[in-house]
Amino acid sequence: MREIIRAWGLTALLAGLLLAPAGVMAGVEKPVLERGKGERCVEDTEYMRRYHMQLLKHHRDDTMRRGIRTTKHSLKGCVECHASSKTGSVASSKEDFCMACHVYASVKLDCWDCHATKPMKKTTPAAMPRLSPLTVGLPGGQQP
Ligand code: HEC
Ligand code: HEC
Ligand code: HEC
Repeated sequence: MREIIRAWGLTALLAGLLLAPAGVMAGVEKPVLERGKGERCVEDTEYMRRYHMQLLKHHRDDTMRRGIRTTKHSLKGCVECHASSKTGSVASSKEDFCMACHVYASVKLDCWDCHATKPMKKTTPAAMPRLSPLTVGLPGGQQP
Protein backbone atom coordinates (compact mmCIF):
# COMPACT_ATOMS: atom_id res chain seq x y z
CA MET A 1 0.00 0.00 0.00
CA ARG A 2 2.74 2.44 0.96
CA GLU A 3 4.49 1.60 -2.31
CA ILE A 4 1.42 2.55 -4.28
CA ILE A 5 1.01 5.87 -2.47
CA ARG A 6 4.66 6.64 -3.04
CA ALA A 7 4.35 5.79 -6.72
CA TRP A 8 1.37 8.06 -7.10
CA GLY A 9 3.11 10.79 -5.20
CA LEU A 10 6.06 10.61 -7.55
CA THR A 11 3.81 10.63 -10.60
CA ALA A 12 1.99 13.69 -9.29
CA LEU A 13 5.28 15.42 -8.61
CA LEU A 14 6.58 14.69 -12.09
CA ALA A 15 3.32 15.80 -13.67
CA GLY A 16 3.50 18.98 -11.64
CA LEU A 17 7.02 19.67 -12.85
CA LEU A 18 6.05 19.08 -16.44
CA LEU A 19 2.97 21.26 -16.29
CA ALA A 20 4.50 24.11 -14.28
CA PRO A 21 6.41 25.81 -17.10
CA ALA A 22 3.32 25.78 -19.33
CA GLY A 23 1.30 27.37 -16.53
CA VAL A 24 3.92 30.04 -16.01
CA MET A 25 4.09 30.81 -19.72
CA ALA A 26 0.34 31.14 -19.93
CA GLY A 27 0.41 33.86 -17.26
CA VAL A 28 2.77 36.06 -19.29
CA GLU A 29 1.59 38.10 -22.22
CA LYS A 30 3.73 37.14 -25.17
CA PRO A 31 4.28 39.87 -27.71
CA VAL A 32 1.89 39.73 -30.63
CA LEU A 33 3.63 40.83 -33.78
CA GLU A 34 2.10 42.18 -36.92
CA ARG A 35 3.45 40.37 -39.96
CA GLY A 36 5.94 42.33 -42.06
CA LYS A 37 5.12 43.46 -45.57
CA GLY A 38 6.12 41.33 -48.50
CA GLU A 39 6.90 37.65 -48.83
CA ARG A 40 9.73 37.33 -46.39
CA CYS A 41 12.24 39.15 -44.26
CA VAL A 42 15.75 40.11 -45.36
CA GLU A 43 17.00 36.88 -43.76
CA ASP A 44 15.30 33.78 -42.42
CA THR A 45 12.68 34.66 -39.84
CA GLU A 46 14.27 32.46 -37.20
CA TYR A 47 17.64 34.06 -37.88
CA MET A 48 16.11 37.53 -37.66
CA ARG A 49 14.50 36.77 -34.32
CA ARG A 50 17.85 35.86 -32.83
CA TYR A 51 20.39 37.96 -34.65
CA HIS A 52 18.76 41.17 -35.91
CA MET A 53 20.73 43.20 -33.38
CA GLN A 54 24.03 41.99 -34.77
CA LEU A 55 22.91 42.72 -38.32
CA LEU A 56 21.92 46.25 -37.45
CA LYS A 57 25.04 46.93 -35.47
CA HIS A 58 27.39 45.56 -38.10
CA HIS A 59 25.58 47.46 -40.73
CA ARG A 60 25.84 50.63 -38.74
CA ASP A 61 29.55 50.10 -38.18
CA ASP A 62 30.05 49.51 -41.88
CA THR A 63 28.16 52.63 -42.83
CA MET A 64 29.53 54.95 -40.24
CA ARG A 65 33.15 53.89 -40.14
CA ARG A 66 33.90 52.71 -43.61
CA GLY A 67 31.28 54.51 -45.64
CA ILE A 68 29.90 51.30 -47.08
CA ARG A 69 26.23 51.59 -47.80
CA THR A 70 24.15 48.59 -48.69
CA THR A 71 20.44 48.60 -48.34
CA LYS A 72 19.88 44.94 -47.51
CA HIS A 73 20.06 45.31 -43.74
CA SER A 74 19.30 48.99 -43.50
CA LEU A 75 17.22 50.28 -40.64
CA LYS A 76 15.08 52.17 -43.13
CA GLY A 77 14.18 48.83 -44.71
CA CYS A 78 13.06 47.40 -41.38
CA VAL A 79 10.89 50.43 -40.80
CA GLU A 80 9.35 50.30 -44.26
CA CYS A 81 8.24 46.68 -43.92
CA HIS A 82 7.47 46.59 -40.23
CA ALA A 83 5.66 49.87 -39.55
CA SER A 84 2.34 49.19 -37.84
CA SER A 85 -0.82 49.49 -39.86
CA LYS A 86 -2.38 51.23 -36.85
CA THR A 87 0.25 53.78 -35.81
CA GLY A 88 2.30 53.85 -39.03
CA SER A 89 5.39 53.44 -36.86
CA VAL A 90 7.69 50.68 -35.60
CA ALA A 91 8.06 52.18 -32.15
CA SER A 92 5.38 54.63 -31.14
CA SER A 93 3.17 52.26 -29.16
CA LYS A 94 4.04 49.25 -27.03
CA GLU A 95 2.48 46.97 -29.61
CA ASP A 96 4.52 48.34 -32.51
CA PHE A 97 6.93 45.89 -34.09
CA CYS A 98 10.25 47.04 -32.64
CA MET A 99 8.68 47.66 -29.23
CA ALA A 100 6.62 44.55 -28.54
CA CYS A 101 9.54 42.16 -27.96
CA HIS A 102 11.73 44.80 -26.44
CA VAL A 103 9.18 45.78 -23.82
CA TYR A 104 8.79 42.07 -23.08
CA ALA A 105 12.57 41.59 -22.85
CA SER A 106 13.22 44.98 -21.18
CA VAL A 107 15.44 46.18 -24.00
CA LYS A 108 15.67 49.93 -24.51
CA LEU A 109 16.91 51.39 -27.79
CA ASP A 110 18.28 54.87 -28.34
CA CYS A 111 18.08 54.45 -32.12
CA TRP A 112 14.89 56.46 -32.41
CA ASP A 113 16.53 59.58 -31.00
CA CYS A 114 18.06 59.94 -34.44
CA HIS A 115 16.34 57.47 -36.76
CA ALA A 116 12.78 57.79 -38.01
CA THR A 117 10.30 55.23 -36.69
CA LYS A 118 8.03 55.77 -39.68
CA PRO A 119 8.63 55.14 -43.36
CA MET A 120 9.51 58.18 -45.45
CA LYS A 121 6.46 59.64 -47.12
CA LYS A 122 6.44 58.87 -50.80
CA THR A 123 5.75 61.88 -52.96
CA THR A 124 2.44 61.03 -54.47
CA PRO A 125 0.61 63.29 -56.88
CA ALA A 126 -1.94 63.91 -54.14
CA ALA A 127 0.78 65.33 -51.91
CA MET A 128 1.95 67.84 -54.52
CA PRO A 129 0.66 71.41 -54.25
CA ARG A 130 -2.55 71.56 -56.11
CA LEU A 131 -2.43 73.52 -59.30
CA SER A 132 -5.73 74.70 -60.50
CA PRO A 133 -6.06 74.29 -64.27
CA LEU A 134 -7.36 77.86 -64.32
CA THR A 135 -4.30 79.43 -62.69
CA VAL A 136 -1.94 77.32 -64.71
CA GLY A 137 -3.70 77.93 -67.98
CA LEU A 138 -3.86 81.73 -67.81
CA PRO A 139 -0.97 83.66 -69.42
CA GLY A 140 1.13 85.50 -66.86
CA GLY A 141 -0.44 83.50 -64.05
CA GLN A 142 -3.37 85.93 -63.87
CA GLN A 143 -6.06 85.06 -61.41
CA PRO A 144 -9.53 84.91 -62.84
C1 HEC B 1 23.11 60.09 -32.26
C2 HEC B 1 22.28 59.75 -33.39
C3 HEC B 1 22.14 58.27 -33.74
C4 HEC B 1 21.72 57.26 -32.90
C5 HEC B 1 21.33 57.33 -31.44
C6 HEC B 1 21.67 56.06 -33.73
N1 HEC B 1 22.07 56.35 -35.01
FE1 HEC B 1 22.16 55.04 -36.57
N2 HEC B 1 22.85 56.52 -37.75
C7 HEC B 1 23.03 57.83 -37.39
C8 HEC B 1 23.58 58.57 -38.53
C9 HEC B 1 23.91 60.05 -38.55
C10 HEC B 1 23.73 57.64 -39.59
C11 HEC B 1 24.30 57.89 -40.98
C12 HEC B 1 23.27 58.57 -41.83
C13 HEC B 1 22.62 57.63 -42.74
O1 HEC B 1 23.32 56.77 -43.26
O2 HEC B 1 21.40 57.73 -42.96
C14 HEC B 1 23.26 56.35 -39.07
C15 HEC B 1 23.22 55.20 -39.80
C16 HEC B 1 22.72 53.98 -39.36
C17 HEC B 1 22.55 52.79 -40.16
C18 HEC B 1 22.89 52.67 -41.64
C19 HEC B 1 21.86 53.43 -42.50
C20 HEC B 1 20.52 52.77 -42.50
O3 HEC B 1 19.48 53.44 -42.68
O4 HEC B 1 20.45 51.57 -42.34
C21 HEC B 1 22.01 51.82 -39.36
C22 HEC B 1 21.65 50.39 -39.74
C23 HEC B 1 21.85 52.40 -38.06
N3 HEC B 1 22.28 53.71 -38.09
C24 HEC B 1 21.33 51.73 -37.00
C25 HEC B 1 21.17 52.26 -35.74
C26 HEC B 1 20.67 51.51 -34.60
C27 HEC B 1 20.23 50.06 -34.65
C28 HEC B 1 20.65 52.37 -33.56
C29 HEC B 1 20.24 52.07 -32.13
C30 HEC B 1 20.90 50.93 -31.49
C31 HEC B 1 21.16 53.67 -34.03
N4 HEC B 1 21.45 53.56 -35.35
C32 HEC B 1 21.29 54.81 -33.25
C33 HEC B 1 22.75 58.39 -36.17
C34 HEC B 1 22.35 57.69 -35.05
C1 HEC C 1 10.78 43.36 -47.51
C2 HEC C 1 10.14 43.55 -46.24
C3 HEC C 1 10.97 43.35 -44.97
C4 HEC C 1 12.11 44.01 -44.59
C5 HEC C 1 12.92 45.03 -45.39
C6 HEC C 1 12.42 43.56 -43.26
N1 HEC C 1 11.50 42.63 -42.86
FE1 HEC C 1 11.53 41.61 -41.09
N2 HEC C 1 9.98 40.46 -41.73
C7 HEC C 1 9.30 40.61 -42.93
C8 HEC C 1 8.28 39.57 -43.03
C9 HEC C 1 7.31 39.37 -44.19
C10 HEC C 1 8.38 38.78 -41.85
C11 HEC C 1 7.56 37.56 -41.47
C12 HEC C 1 8.17 36.34 -42.14
C13 HEC C 1 7.56 35.05 -41.65
O1 HEC C 1 6.50 35.06 -41.03
O2 HEC C 1 8.20 34.02 -41.90
C14 HEC C 1 9.47 39.37 -41.05
C15 HEC C 1 9.88 38.88 -39.82
C16 HEC C 1 10.79 39.53 -38.98
C17 HEC C 1 11.12 39.14 -37.63
C18 HEC C 1 10.51 37.96 -36.88
C19 HEC C 1 9.16 38.34 -36.36
C20 HEC C 1 8.48 37.24 -35.61
O3 HEC C 1 7.31 36.95 -35.92
O4 HEC C 1 9.08 36.69 -34.69
C21 HEC C 1 12.03 40.03 -37.14
C22 HEC C 1 12.62 40.08 -35.75
C23 HEC C 1 12.28 40.98 -38.20
N3 HEC C 1 11.52 40.65 -39.30
C24 HEC C 1 13.14 42.06 -38.09
C25 HEC C 1 13.54 42.84 -39.16
C26 HEC C 1 14.61 43.81 -39.09
C27 HEC C 1 15.42 44.15 -37.86
C28 HEC C 1 14.73 44.35 -40.33
C29 HEC C 1 15.74 45.37 -40.84
C30 HEC C 1 17.14 44.93 -40.77
C31 HEC C 1 13.70 43.73 -41.17
N4 HEC C 1 13.01 42.83 -40.42
C32 HEC C 1 13.49 44.04 -42.51
C33 HEC C 1 9.52 41.58 -43.88
C34 HEC C 1 10.60 42.46 -43.88
C1 HEC D 1 10.92 38.76 -31.97
C2 HEC D 1 11.22 39.78 -30.96
C3 HEC D 1 11.92 41.05 -31.42
C4 HEC D 1 11.53 41.93 -32.41
C5 HEC D 1 10.30 41.85 -33.28
C6 HEC D 1 12.53 42.97 -32.44
N1 HEC D 1 13.49 42.74 -31.50
FE1 HEC D 1 15.23 43.78 -31.25
N2 HEC D 1 15.73 42.58 -29.70
C7 HEC D 1 14.99 41.50 -29.24
C8 HEC D 1 15.66 40.94 -28.07
C9 HEC D 1 15.16 39.74 -27.25
C10 HEC D 1 16.81 41.71 -27.85
C11 HEC D 1 17.86 41.55 -26.75
C12 HEC D 1 18.81 40.49 -27.18
C13 HEC D 1 20.01 40.41 -26.32
O1 HEC D 1 20.17 41.20 -25.42
O2 HEC D 1 20.85 39.52 -26.62
C14 HEC D 1 16.84 42.73 -28.91
C15 HEC D 1 17.84 43.66 -29.05
C16 HEC D 1 17.90 44.60 -30.06
C17 HEC D 1 19.01 45.52 -30.28
C18 HEC D 1 20.27 45.60 -29.44
C19 HEC D 1 20.00 46.44 -28.23
C20 HEC D 1 21.22 46.61 -27.38
O3 HEC D 1 21.21 47.55 -26.56
O4 HEC D 1 22.16 45.84 -27.51
C21 HEC D 1 18.69 46.29 -31.35
C22 HEC D 1 19.54 47.40 -31.96
C23 HEC D 1 17.37 45.86 -31.81
N3 HEC D 1 16.94 44.83 -31.01
C24 HEC D 1 16.70 46.44 -32.85
C25 HEC D 1 15.43 46.09 -33.27
C26 HEC D 1 14.67 46.78 -34.27
C27 HEC D 1 15.14 48.01 -35.01
C28 HEC D 1 13.48 46.12 -34.39
C29 HEC D 1 12.34 46.44 -35.33
C30 HEC D 1 12.66 46.50 -36.75
C31 HEC D 1 13.50 44.99 -33.46
N4 HEC D 1 14.70 45.02 -32.79
C32 HEC D 1 12.50 44.07 -33.31
C33 HEC D 1 13.83 41.02 -29.77
C34 HEC D 1 13.13 41.58 -30.84
